[in-house]
Amino acid sequence: MSIAIEPAAEGDLGDIDALWREAFADDEPRHRAVLTVPVKLAFQPDLFLVAREGGRLVGSVMAGYDGYRGHINRMAVLQSHRRRGVGLLLMREAEARLKALGCVKINLQIRAGNNDVAEFYRKLGYAVEEHLDMAKKMS
Ligand SMILES: CC(C)(COP(=O)(O)OP(=O)(O)OC[C@H]1O[C@@H](n2cnc3c(N)ncnc32)[C@H](O)[C@@H]1OP(=O)(O)O)[C@@H](O)C(=O)NCCC(=O)NCCS
Repeated sequence: MSIAIEPAAEGDLGDIDALWREAFADDEPRHRAVLTVPVKLAFQPDLFLVAREGGRLVGSVMAGYDGYRGHINRMAVLQSHRRRGVGLLLMREAEARLKALGCVKINLQIRAGNNDVAEFYRKLGYAVEEHLDMAKKMS
């Protein structure tokens, strides 16, 4: 069955929640779909993409563009649908949308030691850049 990539919709909340609970099992509660999906649907919703197979939601990627750099988050595919190219389709559509907005470089973070995911991004042309990653929680 073919895979369709399209922006997420409000009705996808439950499926996205299930996908993220499976893909990001040790997620902090503040990352839960019920909190983050409505915010993203109100801000750059065209950059929040889902993959569907025959109407079933099987993957997601949340891209962002700040006018300078592009960012990728919440890249996830259902375990049952991995290694079938769904992740590549999601990323290529996210990249195409970012490029159309004028984005010339995309940054993303993965957890240290997550070699499988690093392989996935390498396949798409991403390379490791040595930076000290800093963050500040605003709430
Ligand atoms: C990372 C992830 C989204 C990849 O999705 P996917 O649909 O399975 O990826 P694809 O089938 O498009 O893979 C494309 C290529 O990436 C590489 N790749 C993907 N998964 C890989 C793995 N587990 N190990 C090694 N290489 C991998 C392969 O080169 C693959 O091509 P191939 O299958 O022809 O060898 C998926 O494994 C996932 O949801 N992981 C858990 C969530 C996560 O950690 N997300 C990243 C947050 S930063």
